[in-house]
Amino acid sequence: MASVPSLASTVQQRLADGLSAALPDAASADPLLRRSDRADFQANGILALAKQLKGNPRELATQVVAAIPENDVLKEIEVSGPGFLNITVTDAAIVRTLAARAADARLGVPFNESAGTTVIDYAQPNVAKEMHVGHLRSAVIGAAMVEILEFTGESVVRRHHIGDWGTQFGMLIQYLIEHPHELDHTAEDGAEVSGEEAMSNLNRLYKASRALFDSDEEFKTRARARVVDLQAGDERTLALWQRFVDESKIYFYSVFDKLDMDIRDADVVGESGYNDMLVETCRILEESGVAVRSEGALCVFFDDVKGPDGNPTPLIVQKSDGGFGYAATDLSAIRDRVQNLKATSLVYVVDARQSLHFKMVFETARRAGWLNEDVKAVQLAFGTVLGKDGKPFKTREGETVRLVDLLDEAVDRATTVVREKAEKVGLTESEIVENGQYVGIGAVKYADLSTSAARDYKFDLDQMVSLNGDTSVYLQYAYARIRSIFGKAGDRTPLAHPELELAPAERALGLHLDQFGEVIAETAAEHAPHKLAAYLYQLASLYTTFYDQCPVIKPEPAQEVAENRLFLCDLTARTLHQGMALLGIRTPERL
Ligand code: ARG
Repeated sequence: MASVPSLASTVQQRLADGLSAALPDAASADPLLRRSDRADFQANGILALAKQLKGNPRELATQVVAAIPENDVLKEIEVSGPGFLNITVTDAAIVRTLAARAADARLGVPFNESAGTTVIDYAQPNVAKEMHVGHLRSAVIGAAMVEILEFTGESVVRRHHIGDWGTQFGMLIQYLIEHPHELDHTAEDGAEVSGEEAMSNLNRLYKASRALFDSDEEFKTRARARVVDLQAGDERTLALWQRFVDESKIYFYSVFDKLDMDIRDADVVGESGYNDMLVETCRILEESGVAVRSEGALCVFFDDVKGPDGNPTPLIVQKSDGGFGYAATDLSAIRDRVQNLKATSLVYVVDARQSLHFKMVFETARRAGWLNEDVKAVQLAFGTVLGKDGKPFKTREGETVRLVDLLDEAVDRATTVVREKAEKVGLTESEIVENGQYVGIGAVKYADLSTSAARDYKFDLDQMVSLNGDTSVYLQYAYARIRSIFGKAGDRTPLAHPELELAPAERALGLHLDQFGEVIAETAAEHAPHKLAAYLYQLASLYTTFYDQCPVIKPEPAQEVAENRLFLCDLTARTLHQGMALLGIRTPERL
């Protein structure tokens, strides 16, 4: 595993050498290098430096350029405008750097051995409830962040904070006690229940118990008493609660499976998992004065959080009836993640509509000292999924759209798209079915990942499975097209030839390929998977231009040129494959 410095960092280093040779006092100044259309790179840092030194920027720039030591990376540096540097690197430097990437299984992307530990809270549906598009977003974005962070060397602990506790269980359990055979056909006869069946059982039970709860005062009283039994840890009550959790998990896992997502049981630590810590969490907060009693409830107040009436809205850690809620659980989870799991970073992939909750929870945890300079928490907040009409996504009847239906429809549409092209590629029926899944699920994931998470996005299946534009299918086809070239290339092997002059499309593709590691680092640091998606889309676009302008096989170029082009094809395919894998999207070999 050898990490490969990017050309940008090499150029940056050369400029820094020039800077410190020309101006020893300004040795630490940043040349501010970025990719540019004018040349390969542009550096603007000398402008600010000249201002600071009260010198003439063009003169200063000329001095710096003159002081750059002889090297074989920089082909040309031009001082332009008020004092920018336009920098062109040699073709040989590009190909050599890419060859070093190609020689590494990680494509030269650095692996930080001493990275921290991130606990990431994602994919957190609620027991006895249907999953909806919001749960999809959390799962898709969270899973991508797990892979991306792990790829950079971070230790990642996954936590699926499912909603498995709360007063609604009193009603459900009481109903089950009074209608004992309602869930029977699942656990007892040992036959496998499908996720779909599990959910429909739970739905039926939920509706029936809710109806009774709303219409029958005596049932309501029994249900409330049942909540008390549950919280007191009554064994029979807990056993019944467990059945709801188990039945729900059958359903959750079936959806995650459809999503081609690996969720492990040990990582599912729902709200109930922190029950034993709640009393102590409250005690610590109260004793330290972080929380105070107000009208019987234990509350934390914030100067900048006020209700519409202008009065402060507190975070309620314990209600006046002694009950604990969502906040107490999340605060206890923070203690667990920081003190037991030794997290240095906490990431919550949760709907933006919960931002106030997390703002207050994080601030409380900071006051309590659980979060500090060394342990940070962030909410990776995501926006709402909208329908084609731009309104929150609902069925025609105004109901929440079932996630399973959406996924099935995406796969159906994708299968149609795949089938249309299948004959030309010679796909078998089972390949068509498999590719339909990869394309359909990939489309849904990519649509979610390719806009910045904070933004709302429209769930538009027609657009998602379109072959043109910024879609996963476009990327998957680009990958498969490259793979098919290797079938036709015969005895020619990919081989880097740094001695060759590159065509413009080759240079553009090459320089972009070289940026992979930087994009990964940025994506990981900013928790911004859309940056990786944008990079991959641009990679596929640059590849398309390259493929149009630079024949690989027909008309047959000179042998070294063909080998070098195949080398670029190969590295592009591997980069696409790796990048898509980090986003949780498959790249079929034939499509
Ligand atoms: N179950 C919650 C929901 O469906 C999301 C949980 C988010 N995570 C947390 N630690 N509060 O909205």
